[in-house]
Amino acid sequence: MKAKIIVNKNFRISEIDKRLYGSFIEHLGRAIYGGVYEPKHPTADDMGFRGDVIEQVKTLNVPVVRYPGGNFVSGYNWEDGTGDKSKRPRRMELAWKTVETNQVGIDEFQEWARRADSEVMMAVNLGTRGADEARNCLEYCNAVTDTYYANLRRKNGFEEPFGIKIWCLGNEMDGPWQMGHKTAEEYGRLACETAKMMKTIDPSIELVACGSSYPEMATFIDWELTVLDHTYKYIDYISLHSYYGNKDNDTPSYLARSMVMDSFIKTVASVCDVVKAKKKSKKTVNLSFDEWNVWFHSNGAKIEKWQIAPPQLEDIYNFEDLLVVGCLLSTLQNNADRVKIACLAQLVNAIAPIMTENGGRVWRQTIFYPFYYASNFGRGIAMKPLVECESYSVKDIDEVPYVECSAVYDKEKKTVTLFVVNRSLEDDIELDFVLENFGNARLSKWVELYSDDLKAVNTADTESVTPNERDISAPTVLKKHSWNMLIYNVEE
Ligand code: AHR
Repeated sequence: MKAKIIVNKNFRISEIDKRLYGSFIEHLGRAIYGGVYEPKHPTADDMGFRGDVIEQVKTLNVPVVRYPGGNFVSGYNWEDGTGDKSKRPRRMELAWKTVETNQVGIDEFQEWARRADSEVMMAVNLGTRGADEARNCLEYCNAVTDTYYANLRRKNGFEEPFGIKIWCLGNEMDGPWQMGHKTAEEYGRLACETAKMMKTIDPSIELVACGSSYPEMATFIDWELTVLDHTYKYIDYISLHSYYGNKDNDTPSYLARSMVMDSFIKTVASVCDVVKAKKKSKKTVNLSFDEWNVWFHSNGAKIEKWQIAPPQLEDIYNFEDLLVVGCLLSTLQNNADRVKIACLAQLVNAIAPIMTENGGRVWRQTIFYPFYYASNFGRGIAMKPLVECESYSVKDIDEVPYVECSAVYDKEKKTVTLFVVNRSLEDDIELDFVLENFGNARLSKWVELYSDDLKAVNTADTESVTPNERDISAPTVLKKHSWNMLIYNVEE
């Protein structure tokens, strides 16, 4: 099969916000306890953080990490995770039905994020709690005043404010499973009042209102319209969440899920703009795709209730999941004009690219690699690729192009990086890649992710899926079902 991709220097989508390569860590399963924090681990530092995990997070180059949930946040008392650790309460955690020891809270996590070269994106509890607790939490984290919560932070050993810039106004409040689930009216009013108070305390913060939990929710769009109607003046982003899976083992259809993500993004952006027009506002509300990933392998696993840090949501990802994650990353880059924040959900152990053994090794799942390359080589200006290729159809989409791609121009480095997935399960693709108005272009690096076996997985013992450096002098033939990154040096 043949395909042509044209990238013209004049066709730009947008500068990519580095927070497009964010991630998420929830108090869930072994994400915090056993993942981030394990004081007895041989690599643990002075605060009990696993050094081997921090190294992997740094390698992924994750600029922002959403915390502490997720569903967890909707029943969370942020104060439980502050001050003297020996006095912190153990609680029944109702979202995931575990025991929360509170040995890690915002006091520790902000320091972990700093050590991992990242920043915290903090969520407040608008489920069982409300505006008062949210504003107190913000005062604790960011205020420099001589006032109760800022002084409590100082008393707990933190003279300097944490300076947390992005705040989520609750989590998935449209979902009946959520503690303190609300109607759009109830949530819209609460989010508006909370946002108003938070921006009074710290006008420099950015706020994310909850959009729908996923696009199949019956209330999708009406929820967004109502919530935006109430909150438009005070918020900066609306959230999108989506997880994808291949439970029917229909791989051609699974590989097309990025097209569903694309249409979800465009729909929510349009809804934001409808409200903007209705309000005659000059402000554009952008999108925070703050939970996205593949999640289905671990569904149905039986885990006994009320344990501390059980192995929940430990999806083991295979090679085709890697291809899907690659396609989803390209879709986020291709929507960089509206998606300013995105969080791969999650980062360690629970639906994560990084896995650990308690007391033992750290290892990389298949999906680690497309994220690593996008985050490290996908910064700059997202360009609009024009793609000519054949397509196929699946049950819900008539035309799925065999090629999924995105292109990023780095002006300083004078490179154009092409991320491209060949969705065909049978055919290699002979690629004709044309760079227009960049002067002479020369391929300088070609990395390929490929496995004959779509179901191949990595484990702590065997890394069966790892990157291959391809010969740059060879013709650019993209293997069947492969992910590729091609870096071109350009003149201008
Ligand atoms: O990431 C796992 C869960 O998925 C989160 O807690 C929740 O927000 C979503 O439903």
